Amino acid sequence: MILYFTGTGNSKYVADYLGDKLQDEVVSLNDMLKNDLPLIAESEKPFVWIAPIYAWRFPERVDELFRKIYFKGNTTFYFVATMGGDSGNCQKVCKKRVRDKGMSYGGFADVIMPDNYFGGFNIKNEQEMVDIVKAAHPVLDVIADTIKKGHTLDIRVKSSAGGLKSGIVNYGFNKYMLQKAKYTVSEACTGCGKCVKVCPVNNIKMLLGRPEFSDDCMGCYACIHKCPEKAINLGKKTEGKTRYVCIDYKKETI
Ligand SMILES: Cc1cc2nc3c(=O)[nH]c(=O)nc-3n(C[C@H](O)[C@H](O)[C@H](O)COP(=O)(O)O)c2cc1C
Repeated sequence: MILYFTGTGNSKYVADYLGDKLQDEVVSLNDMLKNDLPLIAESEKPFVWIAPIYAWRFPERVDELFRKIYFKGNTTFYFVATMGGDSGNCQKVCKKRVRDKGMSYGGFADVIMPDNYFGGFNIKNEQEMVDIVKAAHPVLDVIADTIKKGHTLDIRVKSSAGGLKSGIVNYGFNKYMLQKAKYTVSEACTGCGKCVKVCPVNNIKMLLGRPEFSDDCMGCYACIHKCPEKAINLGKKTEGKTRYVCIDYKKETI
């Protein structure tokens, strides 16, 4: 079973790609989070956990979900991180989580996909985005082949000071950057409600036709990137910047 969380579609793309190659079921963790579904997952095949990297680790809410879900059937776990370029020591955290659950660690891979973080956001045009996704295909093929053969997965882009980044810096990022994020809504907002729909943690409600943000944001940026009017911003950090949503593996061929 392949389980994925996504904000802007990269991890869904990877999940669908691997689901196709491995002929395995693909399950959305966004649905589990948003709709409060039962936290049970059962599979005869190994579990493959796919999520983006936020500040050199998997998002806190995704980590929490992993600890809470009751996994039945197969006992082997593979992890695939999608990222802009650096997953720090995320692999070590995954190993520990699996050990804590008494399951077997199958390995970890990080895959470079378009960077959706506005700090390091590097997408200049559609073609550039497609080229980055295309370049991930050979890596995904190796990941699928390794899992199919039941071998240990260990594919990582070199990272320095991973302990520091995935440790104290990640803690500070979650506490001071994400929790204090101040969203603004411009006059361009039409009140369509797409932001409410795409928020995986129900942090946005419509009030008199305008989105209102609570303080439970997990930082996926889906609301910013998917707003059809580019009306949602994190102040100057995002104003006037390109938005990004990954192409759909099931609908488009590249
Ligand atoms: C809040 C936030 C923090 C991020 N931190 C990192 C990071 O530490 N290292 C990295 O390589 N990419 C980082 N990224 C980029 C994402 O990991 C990357 O674009 C990912 O593929 C997005 O996946 P998604 O489209 O499935 O949401 C960050 C993105 C966000 C939104």
